[in-house]
Amino acid sequence: MKKIGVLTGGGDAPGLNAVIRAVVKTAVRSYDCQVVGIRDGYDGFLNPKGLLPLGRDEVRGILPRGGTILGTANRGNPFAREVLRNGVMIVEDISDEIVAAIKKIKLDALIVIGGDGTLKISQELFAKGVPVIGVPKTIDNDVGGTEVTFGFDTALDTATEAIDKLHTTAESHHRVMVLELMGRDAGFIALHAGVAGGADVILIPEIPFHYDAVVRKIMRRIEGGRHFSILAVSEGAKSQEGEQVFSRSGDAVYLPRLGGVGHLVGSYIENNTEQETRVTVLGHIQRGGTPTPFDRWLATRYGAAATRLAAKGGFGRMVSLSNGEVGDISLEEALAVPKRVDVYGDGVRTARDMGISFGDEE
Ligand code: F6P
Repeated sequence: MKKIGVLTGGGDAPGLNAVIRAVVKTAVRSYDCQVVGIRDGYDGFLNPKGLLPLGRDEVRGILPRGGTILGTANRGNPFAREVLRNGVMIVEDISDEIVAAIKKIKLDALIVIGGDGTLKISQELFAKGVPVIGVPKTIDNDVGGTEVTFGFDTALDTATEAIDKLHTTAESHHRVMVLELMGRDAGFIALHAGVAGGADVILIPEIPFHYDAVVRKIMRRIEGGRHFSILAVSEGAKSQEGEQVFSRSGDAVYLPRLGGVGHLVGSYIENNTEQETRVTVLGHIQRGGTPTPFDRWLATRYGAAATRLAAKGGFGRMVSLSNGEVGDISLEEALAVPKRVDVYGDGVRTARDMGISFGDEE
């Protein structure tokens, strides 16, 4: 192994820099191998300034830094890329161009750090002969084949702190506080932060809710003398009668943008109870900032393991956490079933035992 590439794709997550650092340190120290960073996801292969040689100096001091020193893109899918042809923007499959660019720079392996979208692209590039190794990332924790993705723990910390802060003001003002959290199709952040922060209602994509059941829970609290309530709501939560709520529609390049369910829930509560209600959308605060020690530990282990896997020629595979140990699994197997909250698992059961409503009671 003489030269490997590393890129970060999709939404950023705390811990990306820790993975990059671990890849570089392992490659240089243990394999005497060169590392090239690719800027802004796969786009870097198309850009004359898109390649960044990475040595020990370039990764010094980045372990605790959020974001990614390489930049990222969540509209850089080479199989559906916006390109300018004869003055007109069209969407085209330019994957062959990417494959040729990778061959040209003679990469022995390409380590791709991404969520399910980026990893799916890398699986398709693997089918075209690119020697890819995947590293699972996302604050949503929704990548299959691994117990946890790095980034989730930091987001959870931020979300729980927000609930704690909302608690004191909710109690003082006798208000309902709705906190909209990230979680496109998986409600791990809302579930874990909701339980950790002592929320009264948790709404997640996996359990469609009834607006009236949410109101009934708040009314029960008022009748019991508790004149404030906290709701942790995944942005991807949907009512039993409706669809997910989007603030912007999608197209061939962009995914639809979620957002707005918190405000719908908040208005319904205010219109159907006597309770003054406020809504907070935590948004990208959850993706930023310094990674927690757990995320740094996991990201470092993933980066080192991915480099060792590259040296063994384990292409088309993704590093993963299973029973506390980092191993690997084929991308095909990992991506076959996305990870979702087990609605019959002990996490949801525990929340119900704590008296938390998921808004699904009749
Ligand atoms: O996948 C991670 C995530 O943070 C989702 O929770 C959220 O829906 C999405 O990314 C937001 O993406 P963007 O930064 O493009 O708005």
